[in-house]
Amino acid sequence: MILLLIFGSLLWSAASRPSPNYLNPYSEENETDDPEEMRSAAIKRLLEVFGMEDPPSIHGHKQAPQYMLDLYNTVADVDGVTKDPYLLEGNTVRSFFDKLRSEQVEFSFNLSTVSRGEKILTAELHLFKLRPQATLAFNRHHFCQVSVYQVLDTSKTNSTQDKKLLSSRLIPVHSTGWEVFTITQAVRSWMMDEGSNLGLHVVVRTLGGNPFDMKLVRFASGRNHHQSKQPMLVLFTDDGRRSTSLESRGTSFMSGSSSRIARSVDYSEESGAPTPCQRHPLYVDFEEIGWSGWIISPRGYNAYHCKGSCPFPLGQNMRPTNHATVQSIIYALKLLKGVEMPCCVPDKLFSINLLYFDDAENVVLKQYNDMVAGSCGCH
Ligand SMILES: *[C@@H]1O[C@H](CO)[C@@H](O)[C@H](O)[C@H]1NC(C)=O
Ligand SMILES: *[C@@H]1O[C@H](CO)[C@@H](O)[C@H](O)[C@H]1NC(C)=O
Ligand SMILES: *[C@@H]1O[C@H](CO)[C@@H](O)[C@H](O)[C@H]1NC(C)=O
Repeated sequence: MILLLIFGSLLWSAASRPSPNYLNPYSEENETDDPEEMRSAAIKRLLEVFGMEDPPSIHGHKQAPQYMLDLYNTVADVDGVTKDPYLLEGNTVRSFFDKLRSEQVEFSFNLSTVSRGEKILTAELHLFKLRPQATLAFNRHHFCQVSVYQVLDTSKTNSTQDKKLLSSRLIPVHSTGWEVFTITQAVRSWMMDEGSNLGLHVVVRTLGGNPFDMKLVRFASGRNHHQSKQPMLVLFTDDGRRSTSLESRGTSFMSGSSSRIARSVDYSEESGAPTPCQRHPLYVDFEEIGWSGWIISPRGYNAYHCKGSCPFPLGQNMRPTNHATVQSIIYALKLLKGVEMPCCVPDKLFSINLLYFDDAENVVLKQYNDMVAGSCGCH
């Protein structure tokens, strides 16, 4: 939160900037009063919050796969805030386009951008099945058996098998649209040994097991068909970046017995009284930071911030912890020296979603915990 406040002060600062040394994350090592230097240091730190060292460089206008756009809109609201934290199993979804662009039903995906520590939860091959060519549409087969194989290196495995079956399904011959095959095992083995990634091979057979006429059952390739129908690998992973989220324990904080001690106070009647602890807007604009080139959605988000005082008596609307209630009493009664008023801080935090291009220009959806102050309380 301090980081975002730095942002607030950098991007919207004018006359009333607070002491830079207090806000500067590098103040212990390097003191700087240069606003430009401080801005770039702050942006670098913000990038770290998003798990990156350098902003990805994107060349030209790139189109995100419709699947990823739809997925983003399913998990996130317009501001990028997660609608339902249980919708995605992990916190990362990566998409890859086939790099072979072969005329054959062979595919290969470069997974070099997946980090070592990332846990592979599910991997899917998405193929767009085209309509059968009209001239060949009369056929006695109504279904075909579509099988996806992992291509094996026979010199390594010491076996005669050159491919391993990953997934197989009956598909109506006349259907058109996306077909999804689970290939998790293959991707896990590729992650263990990069050199074993020799790609995938798709075989279409009749129900009797004979080869099917490939002019009849066709899948879009990256070479001959529109970009929106390109073969794609979709990887659901988790990078293990789980922080001490308040989301799960937020409610227990609120159920204190403080109301028995203190009654809430209507501050509006007390003229000149400090504003009570409250949530205020704090918009982080990705365009202003210069990140709009690689972030597809959202354009920015409201992180909110917590501001205000926490004086005795702390009412339920202040969402105090029992500890804060006691501290406010000690403070009010001046029982001990050096005890401050409780602090106004976020007591519930929400995650946001980013849809962005990575270094290899693959589209990634990632969830970041604890990015938006859901409510404020006295702690
Ligand atoms: C401090 O400044 C020096 C010289 O300008 C630089 O080499 C160093 O990396 C800086 N340290 C940090 C933590 O920014
Ligand atoms: C490969 O298989 C053959 C016959 O099964 C066996 O003799 C040989 O030792 C195996 N080689 C390796 C490297 O496993
Ligand atoms: C995969 O992509 C990376 C860059 O994104 C590149 O350095 C590497 O050579 C590629 N690997 C293959 C096998 O094409």
